[in-house]
Amino acid sequence: MTSPILVTGGTGTLGGHIVPLLRAAGRDVRVLSRHSRESADGIEYVAGDLLKGEGIEAAVDGVDIVLHLAGGPKGDDEATRNLVRAASRAGVRHLVYISAIGADTVPLGWFTSKLGAERAIADSGLPWTTLRAAQFHDLALNVVQTMAKLPVIPVPGGLRFQPVDAREVAARLVELTLGEPAGLVPDLAGPKVYGMADLSRAYLKVRGKRRLMMPVRMPGKAGRAYRAGENLSFEGTAVGKRTWEDFLAERVS
Ligand SMILES: NC(=O)c1ccc[n+]([C@@H]2O[C@H](COP(=O)([O-])OP(=O)(O)OC[C@H]3O[C@@H](n4cnc5c(N)ncnc54)[C@H](OP(=O)(O)O)[C@@H]3O)[C@@H](O)[C@H]2O)c1
Repeated sequence: MTSPILVTGGTGTLGGHIVPLLRAAGRDVRVLSRHSRESADGIEYVAGDLLKGEGIEAAVDGVDIVLHLAGGPKGDDEATRNLVRAASRAGVRHLVYISAIGADTVPLGWFTSKLGAERAIADSGLPWTTLRAAQFHDLALNVVQTMAKLPVIPVPGGLRFQPVDAREVAARLVELTLGEPAGLVPDLAGPKVYGMADLSRAYLKVRGKRRLMMPVRMPGKAGRAYRAGENLSFEGTAVGKRTWEDFLAERVS
């Protein structure tokens, strides 16, 4: 019998795609969540909080592989350090992490904490694999839906994205999780680059809505980094197939 794969963040958007794929590959899964849930059908839930350092020992106990997806608006570096400490003590043999394109280049808190998490893993002495992905379509949808509630949509000039389908990121992570530790692997981005206005326009079209758009300038270091495309990835990047328009047609119409 093989040990379960621990999936932190198994209850999130990405985790919701990954857990069934791991089950379909015949693997038992243990999910760490801040909320208790009934375990069922090869999926065991362990209650814990990576930021508070609670329940992590029990989550990693008897586990060879950890797929670390848990994340929030801040503190991913600290949460990951807590996980890494427990995983090292438990003798974990492969720690797989989902990071973000721009972790090493965009000077904004969330990216910096992803980089801190990457470093905690790379410096841990544990065998590891890290994949940097672009923004998921789901996140872009949240943003454009919120913006569409405004009478005039502010459009930061030069801000571009390569949104990727979370299911394609999930499939790649499952492949990496079931493979050998590979270090930092090629980034995974979506098939097209869109400005904020393009993302909003495509959404409004599907919803049959119209809005005025007002160009604004994003200030500071972060604005400069975005205008320089530091959150984008081209060279050696794996490219997903599903476009933003494909996603909208499926989810919104
Ligand atoms: N969304 C994007 O565009 C994007 C792009 C690149 C990389 N990523 C990374 O991909 C990962 C998954 O993203 P997602 O969009 O699927 O996230 P999500 O839907 O917001 O889900 C977040 C997950 O993290 C868990 N979590 C949060 N704080 C936790 C804590 N303190 N202790 C334990 N678990 C905690 C949540 O579990 P419970 O609520 O059950 O506790 C939940 O399962 C994140 O690491 C994110 O940074 C996301």
